[in-house]
Amino acid sequence: MSQAEQQSHVRNSDGFILVSFKKRKHKGKKIDVQSVHFGSTFTKRLSPDSSSASIESFFRKYTDTKSDLTSSPFFNEITEKVFPILKQAEISRIICLGLGRLSECPISRHQLAFIFCLKEYINLQDRIKFFDPIFSQLEIKILQHLDGVVLKENLEGKYLSNEKTLFYLPHCPKQITNNILWKNWRLELLNNTIIISNSFESILISNPRRFLDISANFIRKIAEYCDEISLPINYKHADIFNDISLHLFNTEALRLKEEQFWEATEPLYNEENLEFITREIQDTLKIGDDDFHN
Ligand SMILES: C[S@@+](CC[C@H](N)C(=O)[O-])C[C@H]1O[C@@H](n2cnc3c(N)ncnc32)[C@H](O)[C@@H]1O
Repeated sequence: MSQAEQQSHVRNSDGFILVSFKKRKHKGKKIDVQSVHFGSTFTKRLSPDSSSASIESFFRKYTDTKSDLTSSPFFNEITEKVFPILKQAEISRIICLGLGRLSECPISRHQLAFIFCLKEYINLQDRIKFFDPIFSQLEIKILQHLDGVVLKENLEGKYLSNEKTLFYLPHCPKQITNNILWKNWRLELLNNTIIISNSFESILISNPRRFLDISANFIRKIAEYCDEISLPINYKHADIFNDISLHLFNTEALRLKEEQFWEATEPLYNEENLEFITREIQDTLKIGDDDFHN
């Protein structure tokens, strides 16, 4: 997009901001992104990292978060019911999308602790890959301290599962999950794809068909060939792992699907129902630039 544009946004039924743009009159004037919010559980402003926020203070909080998590009945239950399934799946890579502002937001911090506990449990040697277009420089440093890899490119979820990949995207826009499915819409690729995200079942129940057709068509088509295991709902903080499920694809059933089922046109989302930060929006708003965070 060559011309600077101005943003307006409306919250949809999921609490996600629908971002739309209109042309700005004054080229070069900065767009005010201070009030962009993504989701009701993510209410922090996109403010620069405060000077008191530091790697040390983050790790003090992170240590408490991890012990909070690992000493909980919720954790007992996932180590009994969920982690063993993932161990058996022999995952070789974890891609974690849309964690949010983990230096500031306790929800993101707990979700981060969860994925590192899983890495330990399954004894994954590969470094976890992270991407969220709103990560600040501090958050990038934190993730690198944790030996994570922070990806630079916004692929909008279009990652190829050319190895056994767990995608972890708690409370993230369904269109990103839809894009993951589109990119891997082949039997052998879905066989390599495992997703922990908002429950597909809830997505189907809570959205009208006309919306699903545009925003979640691949989720809609795959749902009946998917084994969905909900994360327990007994965590003491109710808004961290709620409505999140593990999704595994039933390749035995999918093997029987006719050719037509496998036809897949790249999803196109219009401005009115856009839920995630596209590459284009990211470039326009200069999200993730040092310039923005300083
Ligand atoms: C509703 S928030 C969820 C944050 C956190 N996981 C939680 O549960 O509160 C959605 C997140 O998706 C991120 N996101 C938006 N577009 C994205 C993209 N293209 N790739 C990865 N993450 C994206 C947003 O920046 C935001 O952090």
